[in-house]
Amino acid sequence: MGGVVDDLSLHPKYPVRTERLHLRPLTAADTDALLAYRSLPEVCRYVPFAPMDKAVIADRLAGMWSVTTLTDEGQALTLGIELATTGELVGDVVLFFHSRAHRGGEIGYVVNPSFEGNGYATEAARALLKLGFEDLGLHRIIGRIDERNKPSAKVLRRLGMREEARLVRNEWFKGEWSTELDFAMLAEEWQAQR
Ligand SMILES: CC(C)(COP(=O)(O)OP(=O)(O)OC[C@H]1O[C@@H](n2cnc3c(N)ncnc32)[C@H](O)[C@@H]1OP(=O)(O)O)[C@@H](O)C(=O)NCCC(=O)NCCS
Repeated sequence: MGGVVDDLSLHPKYPVRTERLHLRPLTAADTDALLAYRSLPEVCRYVPFAPMDKAVIADRLAGMWSVTTLTDEGQALTLGIELATTGELVGDVVLFFHSRAHRGGEIGYVVNPSFEGNGYATEAARALLKLGFEDLGLHRIIGRIDERNKPSAKVLRRLGMREEARLVRNEWFKGEWSTELDFAMLAEEWQAQR
């Protein structure tokens, strides 16, 4: 399990390998592959960003996507999901380090619609839970979604995360009230299902 409680940090060895995927930091060489899905309105429907153009992607690559380690709360680690066989970038995942005191984090994921239906989001998100619990030393990791985002709820359930709360019309999101479903997993639950 992770390190000393008050000395939490994550320094993954890249690529992080799963059965079919490699997770690794994004680079400028990924721009067109990122644009292929992050520019699509249907992909952005329930996520907290608008369809992106090349300039926004360049800005993110130079900013929050340049993070490769987690050393303090408030940081987020975004990793590209690459197919081990072909090297294609099929999506990306993010691990937020919310709180050092409470050892809390959160996961998120986006997959190119052309590659949906293969289990890649679940496989990549499971690797993030492992990094969060076993290497960073988190105590609790959450997933928060709009309740209309059924494919995303299925990902969180497949991961074995517990549905904990339904927050009715709690956020003004993209021009309408959004009802939020909150999922969570504790470190001991992660250990128990391994
Ligand atoms: C949410 C999102 C990542 C889900 O993508 P997805 O491809 O359905 O999820 P997975 O990669 O886990 O794939 C699961 C599907 O692949 C199928 N599958 C096929 N082969 C599989 C395999 N070898 N292993 C596991 N699942 C497999 C599963 O049966 C499942 O299909 P089902 O949902 O019809 O039962 C995707 O819809 C997306 O990017 N949406 C836009 C962004 C977004 O909303 N992100 C979440 C923000 S909270």
